[in-house]
Amino acid sequence: MHVHELLVVGSANADLVIGVERRPSAGETVLGSPLAVHPGGKGANQAVAAARLGARTALLARVGDDEHGRLLLASQRAAGVDVDGVLVGGAPTGVALITVDPSGDNSIVVSPGANALLSPADVRAAAPLVRGARVVSTQLEIPLDAVVETVRTLGAEGRFVLNPSPPAALPAEVLAACDPLVLNEHEARVLLGPSVSGEPRDWVLGLLSLGPRSVVVTLGSAGAIVADGRAEVCVRVDSPRVTAVDTTGAGDAFTAALAWRLGLGEDLAAAAGYAVRVGSAAVTRPGAQDSYPTPDQLPAA
Ligand code: RIB
Repeated sequence: MHVHELLVVGSANADLVIGVERRPSAGETVLGSPLAVHPGGKGANQAVAAARLGARTALLARVGDDEHGRLLLASQRAAGVDVDGVLVGGAPTGVALITVDPSGDNSIVVSPGANALLSPADVRAAAPLVRGARVVSTQLEIPLDAVVETVRTLGAEGRFVLNPSPPAALPAEVLAACDPLVLNEHEARVLLGPSVSGEPRDWVLGLLSLGPRSVVVTLGSAGAIVADGRAEVCVRVDSPRVTAVDTTGAGDAFTAALAWRLGLGEDLAAAAGYAVRVGSAAVTRPGAQDSYPTPDQLPAA
């Protein structure tokens, strides 16, 4: 039996959030709501989302020895995440400056802090954690060489999931391990390059040609498109209708749920069908980790 159903190797940030009537453009100053501080970071978010759904989950990350780091560790522990792999110290905890507008859309700037110190040596030192997980999920708010080392450390049966966010050029070795590569429309455009055209459904073929075993493109309230390169099937998955309050971290909840359910043996379309319900629930409440549902809080399919 695998020790963990999901290991997340990724970032942990304190989210400093201000609600605004309109997100400012270049050179503009706007007034906003009182500041809220939430536990966040794409890696830490995924770990909390999965654990809250009932997954045996662990996090490999680095936080600072400071108040933000303690906030993040407390959130992980409260959700039931195994935090033995969370390293403490070396730099301040990562911080994300987030503005959220009345439609629930956000803009985010991340100062990586301790996330930037998560190293290949840290991943090698955590090899039993990596090899003991059924699924290992990463994102790109940690150094790319730590992601590469994660791929190299995976167990023979370990499944690898990557959300390339923020998007960056990926080595062939990483792309070939992705099963799936999970990305939104913005990230897909960056990976496909400036010549990209057509509909998201057309992009899937282009993304598969980059080398991943499977691809999931998330479309916000429009659901997701999934494609398995082996089966040559491309399926659209609809999302339940909900009223969005704050979309921050909804993609992380989606990816965590997807990764966990794939590890349980579901096929890509079924796992994505579950994950869109989790992502939909997450947008109905403010914050990232604070918004994540337990199974009884999921909207109907
Ligand atoms: O995906 C949402 C997350 O992105 C936020 O929690 C923020 O910390 C940034 O990492």
